[in-house]
Amino acid sequence: MNEEEPEYIRLVEQTEIFKNCKNIVIGRGNENAKILFVGEAPGRNEDEQGLPFVGAAGKNLDKLLNKVGLTIEDIYIVNILKCRPPENRNPLPEEIRMHTPWLVEQIKKIKPKVICSLGNYSTKFFLANGDVDKMDKVSGITSLHGKPQIIEFKGITITLLPLFHPAAIIYNQKLLPLWEEDMKVVKQVSESVKNEIDIERQKKLF
Ligand code: URA
Repeated sequence: MNEEEPEYIRLVEQTEIFKNCKNIVIGRGNENAKILFVGEAPGRNEDEQGLPFVGAAGKNLDKLLNKVGLTIEDIYIVNILKCRPPENRNPLPEEIRMHTPWLVEQIKKIKPKVICSLGNYSTKFFLANGDVDKMDKVSGITSLHGKPQIIEFKGITITLLPLFHPAAIIYNQKLLPLWEEDMKVVKQVSESVKNEIDIERQKKLF
């Protein structure tokens, strides 16, 4: 263990899933983007490559971005967990507790205006304001998907847009029409963010 490392990295390194993974998966995309996508945990391909959403779920995410006119340059992508759980099992509360201080650090640096939370774990984490013990008590993705809401997360005002996890669409094709509807909301929200950024840029110029 490196004593110089920040505490949020040392916490990750203390977990069993860190000891068993090939690569830590930190993030991908534009660190200056105002839209952050937050998934659950790396899978096999992500673990191999050290990058989030590069496997089958990543292909679905690419389709999503394409449909709404976004590119990887417009967004940044991260996960709740930085390491792959064995056999892609669900994250354990203790793992979320140990891995998310790094995520919070990323959010404080990126300062996104919008967070698209992909799936239940990510959505519940934000709605519980990062308190893992409260995650059980908040609503899940089924009732919340596609409905943007303003939240205060660790002192930052963010539009949270819960979305089904792109992997869920692969396993449950019935979700596809709902997903397509939600994409329209992603488009509206991302266009309003782009306009806002443009206005801010113009204000600084003139
Ligand atoms: N699923 C996730 O939640 N994250 C990834 O990086 C890949 C698959």
